[in-house]
Formats: sequence, C-alpha cells, structure tokens
Amino acid sequence: MSASSLHVNDLVVLRGGREVLHGISLSLLPGEITALLGANGAGKSSLVMTMSGALPAKSGSVTLDGAEVLGHTPDAVRRMGIAIVLEGHPVLSNISVIDNLRASALMHSRREADQEVEAALEVFPELKPRLQLAAQNLSGGQKQMVVVAQALICRPKYLLIDELSFGLAPAIVQRLGETIAGIANRGVGILLIEQFTTLALNLANRVYVMERGDIAFSGNAEELRAHPEILHGAYLASGRAVAAG
Ligand SMILES: Nc1ncnc2c1ncn2[C@@H]1O[C@H](COP(=O)(O)OP(=O)(O)OP(=O)(O)O)[C@@H](O)[C@H]1O
Ligand SMILES: [Mg+2]
Repeated sequence: MSASSLHVNDLVVLRGGREVLHGISLSLLPGEITALLGANGAGKSSLVMTMSGALPAKSGSVTLDGAEVLGHTPDAVRRMGIAIVLEGHPVLSNISVIDNLRASALMHSRREADQEVEAALEVFPELKPRLQLAAQNLSGGQKQMVVVAQALICRPKYLLIDELSFGLAPAIVQRLGETIAGIANRGVGILLIEQFTTLALNLANRVYVMERGDIAFSGNAEELRAHPEILHGAYLASGRAVAAG
C-alpha cells in the first residue's frame, strides 16, 4: 500500500430516509486523478459529501492514512486533509474575492495564511486584478477558480471536485482541466466528478462509474476510452445520454 491513501469501504448512506449509496468502496492515491462518472441521481454528490463530512453515513468507513474520517465535521475533515469543491461553484457573493480566499485560510497562522493565499493566486493569476471585487461580480469560470483556490488554501492531500465544468465555457474548462492536472502532479490525489466524460477520461488515471447508488465499473481510464459502450450502458440504464466533450 502507498504511504498515503484514501479508502472508502462499504459505505451506506441514507437521504430523506431512502438509501442512496448501497455499499460503495473505492480508493484514491496521491498524485492520481480518479474520475467518478454516472448519470443524474447516481449518487456522486452524495458520495463526496459523505467523504467530506457534510452528510452522515449509516455504515461503512472512510479512512485517510488509516484514520477514520466519518463522524467528523466538514471543518475537521478539511484539517485532516480532504477538501471538497462543491457543485455549482458556490462563493460568498457579497464578500470580496480576497476575503473569500482569506476565509478559507483561517485554519492557518497569519503568516501561513498569507503564503497559502499567495500560492493559490500563482495558480490563478486571473484573480489578482479582481481581489477587491465582490465575488458575485465574477464570471462562472472565475468563481470556480475562487472555489478551487479556496480548496488549495486548505493544503489538501485529497481534493474532491463535484462538477468541474458545470455551466462553464469550453475555453475555461480546458484551462481548469490543465490546472487540475498540475495539482495532481504536485502529489494531491483528486476525485473528479465531471459531466464531460471525454475530458474526465483524458485527465484521469482511473475511473469509477456509479449507477443508482452502486459502483457499476472500476478500472483504468484507458480501458473505458477503448470500451465506451460500458459508459453508455451505465448512462442509458438511468435514461441519460453521455455528454460529449
Ligand atoms: N437533499 C436531498 N434529500 C433527499 N434525497 C436527495 C437529496 N439530494 C439528492 N437526493 C437523492 O439522492 C440520490 C443521489 O443523488 P446525488 O445528488 O448524490 O446524485 P448525483 O450523481 O450527484 O447526480 P447529478 O449528476 O444530478 O449531480 C438521488 O436519488 C437523489 O434524488
Ligand atoms: Mg451531483
């Protein structure tokens, strides 16, 4: 086993009294991008929300370097080393870009906070001329940069991204994809939920496909690129076509 690892084992989650994850197991490794694909309602968001402490589990485990993650608050999970980029690039709208970033750095000492914000701005220099703007005045792509920057400021070992490209223009999606690859190259393990399956399969080393609360496929991204019918089957089973991209 690798020195660092994030393991989900037999995870069962209920939402609104209904079981939505039926015993999910998966593993992430440092420096690797793992894609998590599946149709609407398959349970992708429920999985990453549970892994980040935002939803309780009925049973199972999520371990980071051997330590149990379940039962901790989202804040504590972040401190353990798991950061999440929530669906729909949520930012604090009335707050300036710089204060959005600083708010994510509260876990650090003042000096470290300044360093982490500075490092995140090196990843997204586009934000530098916009630091004093209220975040609500940013484009969707710029908001997503703020949200990814906020996650990076937490110095994560693992980054869970719920819909990297949702609602964003193709050029910005390409740019964000390159950034995600760069973050993984620095050793961060990434779980990438992405509606554009071609983008996800190009970035990812390994892939899990979810279908109605279960894992329907796991394997190498290459294998899935060679056998797109596996993916089509999973999406068609749930009545949704695969997004091209
Ligand atoms: N707030 C909620 N309360 C109760 N059930 C929910 C809630 N949110 C989602 N669900 C249900 O949980 C199941 C999994 O949904 P989830 O949002 O995790 O899927 P998803 O794969 O992220 O879908 P999408 O691609 O649309 O984002 C679905 O059956 C959904 O109806
Ligand atoms: Mg979702």
